[in-house]
Amino acid sequence: MKNYIAAIALSLSCLLANQTKAQAENKNESNSPKWWKSAIVYQIYPRSFKDSNGDGIGDLKGIISELDYLKSLGINVVWLNPIYQSPNFDNGYDVSDYRKIDPEYGTMADFDSLLSGMHRRGIKLVMDLVVNHSSSEHEWFKQSRSSRTNPYRNYYHWWNAENGKPPYRFSLFDINHDAWKYDSLTNAYYLHYFSDKQPDLNWENPKVREEVYDIMRFWADKGIDGFRLDAFQFVAKDTTFPMFPKGFEKDFTRYYAMQGNLHGYLQQMYQQIFSKYDVMSVAEGAGNTFEDAHNLVDSNRHELNLAYAFNGVDIAKPNGYSLLHFKTVFSQWDSAFEHSGWLAIFLANHDQARMVSRFGNDAPAFRTHSSQMLSTFILTMRGTPFYYNGDELGMTNPNFTSINDYRDKVILDEYKHTVLTGGNVQDLLKNFAFGARDNGRTPFQWNTSPNAGFTTGTPWINVNPNYKTINVAVEEKDPNSCLNYFKKLVQLRNTHTTLVYGKYTLLDKNNDQVYAYTREDAAGKFLILLNFSTKNATFNNNHMKGQGKVALANYTDVGKTITLQPKISLRPYEAMVIEL
Ligand code: GLC
Ligand code: CA
Repeated sequence: MKNYIAAIALSLSCLLANQTKAQAENKNESNSPKWWKSAIVYQIYPRSFKDSNGDGIGDLKGIISELDYLKSLGINVVWLNPIYQSPNFDNGYDVSDYRKIDPEYGTMADFDSLLSGMHRRGIKLVMDLVVNHSSSEHEWFKQSRSSRTNPYRNYYHWWNAENGKPPYRFSLFDINHDAWKYDSLTNAYYLHYFSDKQPDLNWENPKVREEVYDIMRFWADKGIDGFRLDAFQFVAKDTTFPMFPKGFEKDFTRYYAMQGNLHGYLQQMYQQIFSKYDVMSVAEGAGNTFEDAHNLVDSNRHELNLAYAFNGVDIAKPNGYSLLHFKTVFSQWDSAFEHSGWLAIFLANHDQARMVSRFGNDAPAFRTHSSQMLSTFILTMRGTPFYYNGDELGMTNPNFTSINDYRDKVILDEYKHTVLTGGNVQDLLKNFAFGARDNGRTPFQWNTSPNAGFTTGTPWINVNPNYKTINVAVEEKDPNSCLNYFKKLVQLRNTHTTLVYGKYTLLDKNNDQVYAYTREDAAGKFLILLNFSTKNATFNNNHMKGQGKVALANYTDVGKTITLQPKISLRPYEAMVIEL
């Protein structure tokens, strides 16, 4: 009797649960197709991609000469890091004129032919917009610092020194981590969350916002297809500059991200720009919580399209990481965005060391398989893949051993600081070799000619010595290379919307070697099996039966079909995409 009642209660609650699920699915904005959801974004770091004139610096003509390569990958969007006029203290993230192309990269005519060349090949272009700060050499800042009464004074954040020292603010790039820089010209401090050559713009000033919208219009009118808003989560500030608790810098995004009227500014930007052009929009950083991220991208709010959160890419640590943790993070983000909002999926970018060196295994025995396995993950998850140039070749960290190999000012400063304060330099160099940003910025490896075919001159940063075996020319000829595998993966995603929109379900949750999940919608179902370890592993298949069709596998001897047995073995870093 008791069981009977329990059964009714259970079936009633199932019914209710199904109803709410059905209701939710009806309203499921995540399934509504958009070009920027089904896109595969390929990130180009222009300084390191291809040099056309032998000065050792990658440039626009270099990219133009490789447009057919981009086309051959099958990707359909390029995100280009900044190419605007800049002193290049932070490789373009310090803009001195937002409407000019930096002469190191070329001319506006080069830009126009790059854009039309991409469009002719069906590739869209997303540009970086760096407006949390400008360069200290921007005309606005020159004006702003010239006098306290200059009309541009309030374009930046100033604190008059007669009021004492301003409340401490942490700088991500400053050698002393002090975000206030004293300027004797007007006896005042200015704020710089990044380096002192990157003063923060004052978004609370409506004139600054109008200037930014004008810049966006300029580029959108040229026909670009999207904006990536650099460090945008930090733009809004409480300009009374209250004291933050001691030690706040250990968790500074809590105090810096999503402050003040940030969402109001985005809604204004939407009204002025995003609602008027068919452009995609993504901000770097997604705040501190799922709610923060939703507030940026839920379509009913009219702000941005995609959330680019760091929780995934931050997991890798010098002493490794736990796959269980990795699965939990990606699964939680997926379920938080199942019904509304949309995510960017990535494991690398220009601020990270190489994907295969951090998340996979760059030892010769494992490099190809682990790199292919990680690419499989990125291209079979729900969300828009943001794939970093060179990862399709399985490019690795260069293992620099001398500080002279590094170029990133942040790294050079940290080194100086460690030397000056008597810290452990050897340990620091080891940490750099694992995680420094320059690891991901070495020249793109085109072929076996000197400097990997990147330049005929001296490259601005050394080429990875492994370029003779890891490069486009060699990999194009090898049917089992990372490159050819990547092309197949791209094609698979481009031809199966299930891999874009389909529901994600984690399987064999507690397996600490294998990441297994399904992607499923009315059009089809896929099972993805990824061995994240150097050992053989087993996927515990609890419920699937029959045969599956192997849509893609990174070991060459795998047959065309697979029997779904209760236990499926996987070799080190083996990856399989199975169509059910
Ligand atoms: C972002 C960029 C990074 C840059 C910083 C300051 O994090 O991705 O490369 O150094 O902003 O603009
Ligand atoms: Ca050049």
